[in-house]
Amino acid sequence: MIVAHRGASGHAPENTMAAFKKAIELEADYIELDVQLSKDQELVVIHDLNVARTTNSNGDVRELTSRQLKGLDAGSWFHQKFSGEKIPTLKEVFEECRGKIGLLIEIKNPHLYPNIIEKLAIELKKYKLHCPQNDELIVQSFDFKLLQKFHKLVPDVPLGLLVKYQVQGVSNIQLKEWAKLVHYINPNKALVTKKLVKRIHAHHIKVFPYTVKSKKSIKLLMAAKVDGIVTDYPDFFIK
Ligand code: G3P
Ligand code: CA
Repeated sequence: MIVAHRGASGHAPENTMAAFKKAIELEADYIELDVQLSKDQELVVIHDLNVARTTNSNGDVRELTSRQLKGLDAGSWFHQKFSGEKIPTLKEVFEECRGKIGLLIEIKNPHLYPNIIEKLAIELKKYKLHCPQNDELIVQSFDFKLLQKFHKLVPDVPLGLLVKYQVQGVSNIQLKEWAKLVHYINPNKALVTKKLVKRIHAHHIKVFPYTVKSKKSIKLLMAAKVDGIVTDYPDFFIK
């Protein structure tokens, strides 16, 4: 599976509709997107806590209303030709992309948004994505406890656990525990070995490492038999 990281973010500004449409055009299997909450509790699609890196303004996402966020230019920082791009709401991404490409939604900075999982569960239900079919949706987080709580709200949504550090030494007891909840373990690519993938597969969990940016990495990961890759350049790998 080819997952376009924050959309096809090597070609268009990350987490914008331009990047998501580019991923669809390139025939990636999924788009990965980061969700947070605006001040007025709208689910919005942006990676950083602060808007400074990816817009023409400054300020924390949680301190800005969805209207204020909509007023920002989320494209020019990448290239002038994307100057009309906005920070999308999750609703807008559902409207535009649902049915055209799989959605891998990351719940970003959950410690800052106490009710983000309830909001996300409501939104998924509104769009009838709480019982996804044909691999159309995965929800992921670095926070296992958060995923446990989220599962109680929408038990049919497939979950992914993101891991940054030291997964090679993970015990079988831990893997067994994770396997009760998650369908995917998505590690930093630097952590992936053939042995680790084999151990994870033994628990019927798939592996989508992030973030792959070179052709050399794809060869190593394919040799390790991963199930998918999260990349800024889906076209590299599709070719
Ligand atoms: O899908 C994995 C990846 O998105 C996690 O890292 O920092 O790009 O959100 P980050
Ligand atoms: Ca992410």
